[in-house]
Amino acid sequence: MEVIELKHPLISHKLAILRDKRTGTKEFREIISELSSFLCYEALRDAKTKEVEIETPITTTKGQMINEDNYAFVPILRAGTGMLDGLIKVMPNAKIGHIGMYRNEETLDPVRYYYKIPNGIEDREVIVLDPMLATGGSGIDAINSLKQSGAKKIKFLCIIAAPEGIKRIQEIHPDVQIYCTSIDEKLNDIGYIVPGLGDAGDRIFGTK
Ligand code: PRP
Ligand code: URA
Repeated sequence: MEVIELKHPLISHKLAILRDKRTGTKEFREIISELSSFLCYEALRDAKTKEVEIETPITTTKGQMINEDNYAFVPILRAGTGMLDGLIKVMPNAKIGHIGMYRNEETLDPVRYYYKIPNGIEDREVIVLDPMLATGGSGIDAINSLKQSGAKKIKFLCIIAAPEGIKRIQEIHPDVQIYCTSIDEKLNDIGYIVPGLGDAGDRIFGTK
């Protein structure tokens, strides 16, 4: 499955601000949230809709609605939570799970410390959120756990993806559609995305 990379002048504009090291926490968070809403729109392009009858102030008509209950958003802590409000803004009734994970800075292996997902995950479309897809270790571990819990349809939303991480997810989980706003050049020798935006968690939460 090809990665879906959103291409739009407004997205390029927002990304340029996001990457700039002078951008402060407030603006950084706001842009992560905005870009996440755009990613959500794209990820729901194939959503099933049901016809409903509505009364407008003028007349009766038919509309199409999504069953929001069919969806679960699962941010990977901590940085993934920065994307969550952008999705909740457009799909306020989706269920939410959390997977706590951080990268061991030496080995770059993911270390899981929390896992809580909504009931009935096997019947929901699961949308995993993490702004950075670098080596792919965190994403793969999260997807493995979700599949072990019974999830059948999984999508992965990130702001920036490295070719190395994309390749690893595609090899191990070819059924998972990846969406991003940019496919960057490469990883550097300490596992950071180049040009990237630095440490997403630290920039969202102002921890450094
Ligand atoms: C970052 C990011 C991803 C992970 C990506 O998290 O948010 O979860 O690294 O790297 P990978 O693809 O090589 O696994 P980090 O470990 O910095 O934790 P944090 O979200 O708590 O800051
Ligand atoms: N995690 C980040 O926050 N940034 C990177 O560039 C790579 C992993």
